[in-house]
Amino acid sequence: MIKVSASIMCGNPMKFGEELRRLEDANVEMIHFDMMDGSFVPNIAMGLYLLEDMKKNTKIPFDVHLAAWEPSQYYERIAAAGVEYLSIHTEAVKHIHRDIQKINELGISAGVVLNPATTVNALQYIIEDIKMVTIMTVDPGFAGQKFIKSQLKKIREVKEMAQKYNKDLLISVDGNINKDTIPDCVKNGANVLVAGTSSIFKGDNANYKELVKEMKNSI
Ligand code: DX5
Ligand code: ZN
Repeated sequence: MIKVSASIMCGNPMKFGEELRRLEDANVEMIHFDMMDGSFVPNIAMGLYLLEDMKKNTKIPFDVHLAAWEPSQYYERIAAAGVEYLSIHTEAVKHIHRDIQKINELGISAGVVLNPATTVNALQYIIEDIKMVTIMTVDPGFAGQKFIKSQLKKIREVKEMAQKYNKDLLISVDGNINKDTIPDCVKNGANVLVAGTSSIFKGDNANYKELVKEMKNSI
């Protein structure tokens, strides 16, 4: 079953409350919450206070994408906010195996994010301990970028690993995901689609329900 994870960073920050209602109405399966430290990626986005407040204001499960160096300094606080998934970048930690154990011990589902140049070898000894792999189909940091086609091969490789070692693995694609890029992503094995500016966040008058349907009908 394909899930849509709405990248709330692409919503109207002046109307985040309303954005949550519109996303509930559109029956998105997850909220993709991008947290950025301005150092691991050249942008700063959505801090802990906003996470805590936003999580209190909706029942939609949260898929937190933590693009930050030394992410372990935030695990307890993010877990305390009650998020369902927390994904960290393999490139941002020294001891990824230990970090994944820490996240799982906090009672939330651990995920990892792979930047465009990172190979699936990074998953070899952790794939059985995680619930989700997020494949970056743009360079992390900003919405509105162009899809990196080379990542289609990586989706297929992750799918093949999942078939062997972790059949329930969620395989998410993040960056310029829309009705044009979805078919190839899903054909290669993606089952979570991060929806940003090129799919549903198209302004205050956009019909999110229709746009989510359009995403799912494009498969
Ligand atoms: C980029 C973020 C994405 C981004 C998606 O670093 O991880 O979630 O907001 O936005 P689009 O779909 O516009 O690329
Ligand atoms: Zn993201």
